[in-house]
Amino acid sequence: MNNTKNVVVLASGGGTNLQALIDAQNRGELGCGRITCVIASKADAYALTRARENGIKTRTLIRKDYTDVDKYSEDMLALLLEEKADVIVYAGFMTILGESVCDAFPNKMVNVHPALIPSFCGKGYYGLRVHEEALKKGVKVSGATVHFVTAECDAGPIILQKAVEVLDDDTPETLQRRIMEQAEWKLLPKAVALLCDEKIVVENGKTYIK
Ligand code: GAR
Repeated sequence: MNNTKNVVVLASGGGTNLQALIDAQNRGELGCGRITCVIASKADAYALTRARENGIKTRTLIRKDYTDVDKYSEDMLALLLEEKADVIVYAGFMTILGESVCDAFPNKMVNVHPALIPSFCGKGYYGLRVHEEALKKGVKVSGATVHFVTAECDAGPIILQKAVEVLDDDTPETLQRRIMEQAEWKLLPKAVALLCDEKIVVENGKTYIK
């Protein structure tokens, strides 16, 4: 029986989380997952270059070509179905897709968020802004969360979290980098492997690892 799962990665920027997934796949650490396509929301997303350099198919669906997120979501859903996606990964993907997409892939889409949800999350909290707010608040630890994507932004069941120390002299950039290195790049491939290997159970909004 072929258990291979088609993993489609959505990205908007630098793609360091995509790189972590590619590296994990190359080390044989993505379980039954195989990255089959990267879809970017920006034409100049460096994630596209990373994918091409690794022989992974790329597609673009440019967010700024759309005024309406519903139409964008509809077209994204069509692409995901065309690509026969089994598992979808938001790896620095900055668009909140509509309910139709979430409904089509229940507990099959995961997102990495650069904070310990439910802190510093929800609409408006993305990229460096998350770290700016964490530093403004003076938290002593932040971290990363991988969770299932639902229609409500950053509110789906939590799969993995890891705390990272905040230092007195951190800038948003240094904190972002430490959280990526110590948490995001480790958690995301691990969560994707668990999902592809069907080891995550969701019950009453919580996840359990089998
Ligand atoms: C990452 O820190 C990711 O957690 C964050 O954007 C960065 C993308 O970096 N995502 C969000 O803020 C989503 N709300 P990358 O393109 O190098 O992976």
